[in-house]
Amino acid sequence: MLFGKNIVITGAASGIGARTAELASQMGANVICIDINTPKHHYGTFLAGDLSSAEGVAKIVDRLPKEIHALCNVAGVSGEAGADITLRVNFFGLKMLSESIVGKMFSGGSIINVASIAGYGWRTNAKRASAIAHTSGFPENMASFMEQNDIANELGYPISKEALLVWTQLASQQALFKDKSIRVNAVSPGPVETPIINEFRAVLGDDRVNADINKVGRPATPSDIAPAICFLCSDGARWINGHNLATDGGLEAVVNKDTFEL
Ligand SMILES: NC(=O)c1ccc[n+]([C@@H]2O[C@H](COP(=O)([O-])OP(=O)(O)OC[C@H]3O[C@@H](n4cnc5c(N)ncnc54)[C@H](O)[C@@H]3O)[C@@H](O)[C@H]2O)c1
Repeated sequence: MLFGKNIVITGAASGIGARTAELASQMGANVICIDINTPKHHYGTFLAGDLSSAEGVAKIVDRLPKEIHALCNVAGVSGEAGADITLRVNFFGLKMLSESIVGKMFSGGSIINVASIAGYGWRTNAKRASAIAHTSGFPENMASFMEQNDIANELGYPISKEALLVWTQLASQQALFKDKSIRVNAVSPGPVETPIINEFRAVLGDDRVNADINKVGRPATPSDIAPAICFLCSDGARWINGHNLATDGGLEAVVNKDTFEL
C-alpha cells in the first residue's frame, strides 16, 4: 500500500510513532524517523530532532531530503510538564514542521496529525482553539500568550489537541497545502498502552483513564492506531481531506451519545 513512498514520522522512538514506522516499512515505504530520543530499534533513517522550538524545527527541515510523500505528526507530550512545552511540541512545532516541509513534498502528498479524544471539546472551545490555530510560528512570549488565550497550565494537553483538530481543518483548505493537493487529516485515539499513558494517569487520575477504557472494553495498542495512520498516507485515502478519524474503539460514539443525550 505504501510501496516506494518516502514517509517522515515524528515521535518514532516510542509507542504509536515506532509502530507506525515499523508498519509503514513493512508496507514498502522508505521511512525517515524523527525523535528527540534515540530509538532502540528504528526503521529506515533516524534523525534526532527537537520539535519544541523554531530553531529545532528548522534544523530538522534542513536535514530532510526532497521528494517526501507523507508526513506523520505523531510526536507528543502528555501535559504533565505544563502547558508551555505541551503547546510547543503538540501544536506549534507540529504546525511549523508541516508548513516548512511543503516545499520538499510531492503534489498529492499527505499529512497526518495524531490528535486525541482529549481534543473532543474543540467545538465548545472553538474561539480559543481557532485563535491558537491561526497563530503563526511560535508565540514570542508563551506566558502572555497563555494568559491572553485563557490557557490554564494544567489544561495544556486538551487545549493543544483542540487547536490541532481545528488547524487540521483549516490547513486542508489553506492554499499552501491545497495548491499542491496535499491532504491534511487527523487520527484521534482514545487511551493507548504506551509510556505516555502513565503520565495521563498522573495528570487525569486513574479513575478518568479507566472510565474511558471501560467504555470501549480495553485500551488500544499502538498496533490498533498505526494502520489508520498508514491508510491516510496511502493513495486509497485520496478523497479524504480535513477529516478527523476517531481511532478509539468507539469511544467518541459513546461520548457523543452521552453529550447529546442520543
Ligand atoms: N497513548 C495514548 O493514550 C494517546 C491517546 C491519544 C493520543 N495520543 C497521542 O499519540 C501521540 C504519540 O504518543 P504515544 O502514545 O506513542 O506516546 P510515547 O510517549 O510513546 O511517544 C511520544 C514520542 O514523542 C517524542 N517526543 C516528545 N517530545 C518531543 C520533541 N520535543 N521533539 C521530538 N520528539 C518528541 C518522544 O520522545 C516519544 O518518542 C501523541 O501525540 C499523543 O498525544 C496518545
